[in-house]
Amino acid sequence: MSPLKTAMAEAAAAVDGMLDRLLPRPADAESRLAEAMRYAALGPGKRLRPFLVITGSRLFNVATTSALRVAAAVEMVHAYSLVHDDLPAMDDDEMRRGRPTVHVAFDEATAILAGDGLLTRAFEVLADPLTHSNPAVCCQLIAALADAAGARGMVGGQMIDLMAEHQRLDQAEITRLQMLKTGKLIGFSCEAGAILGRAPAQQRFALQAYAHDLGLAFQIADDLLDIAGDAGEMGKAASKDAAAGKATLVALIGPERARAHARLLARQAVQHLDSFDEKADLLRHLARFVVERRT
Ligand code: IPE
Ligand code: IPE
Ligand code: MG
Ligand code: MG
Ligand code: MG
Repeated sequence: MSPLKTAMAEAAAAVDGMLDRLLPRPADAESRLAEAMRYAALGPGKRLRPFLVITGSRLFNVATTSALRVAAAVEMVHAYSLVHDDLPAMDDDEMRRGRPTVHVAFDEATAILAGDGLLTRAFEVLADPLTHSNPAVCCQLIAALADAAGARGMVGGQMIDLMAEHQRLDQAEITRLQMLKTGKLIGFSCEAGAILGRAPAQQRFALQAYAHDLGLAFQIADDLLDIAGDAGEMGKAASKDAAAGKATLVALIGPERARAHARLLARQAVQHLDSFDEKADLLRHLARFVVERRT
């Protein structure tokens, strides 16, 4: 296995252990909700955002527990976004991470509530002194994740994504849509280690710039996989975006140019890390991985 694959597998195992602890199974009447939250959060995904939190935290010698708790929180927000993204009112998907989507495995109301529960739990985890002993750091994490996930971030992007099914967006508009719906949460994931480690502003800005290009490259790759990926391998349906009228760069400029653009973004992302030493090598490898990935 490559060093990147090994590090990603280690990060995934560690964050899954943390998620398992942070999402217990109460024996109460609402245990169905807890089961749906666990089903969504612990399903076999790539754990890319947790990997970014953990790897970014290592740059600043952040305590492992702090990094893992933030990694788990961002994965909860991501998992919630997928549960809601798959709902009939949104992308109407029946497969996710190789299994029936939450509204299919449970029901629609439970899927909505499980998403709500995961989103809320993420902030509860960040607010806990176990995440960081300094309340100012916890507040910064909470504000940054709220910004990334909210109306000026992921949720805002999802709104544009749905409205764009009935509009034609140009390249700049598609880039903004993708920056919001996908880039912002990836941005938080890259920055979290710098917040936890109270890093100098310059290093934080470098990671923001890296995340900006990485997030866009990541979503273009997702859109390329929709047209050319293998549904079985990806664990989710393929060939849906064109029929749904999704605004993607792939649809606007074609797959070859979209892939070339994603590769350019990945190279640019790596350049933003020039001020970091070899501790940032995994982040450099990751930029290449996100474009060439098959899942
Ligand atoms: C899918 O994200 C949704 C997008 C933002 C494109 P991932 O490709 O990271 O999904 P998982 O977590 O591996 O399932
Ligand atoms: C989803 O984008 C972005 C989210 C914020 C969840 P997509 O709708 O393209 O993600 P997939 O293809 O369903 O994973
Ligand atoms: Mg969508
Ligand atoms: Mg979708
Ligand atoms: Mg997609």
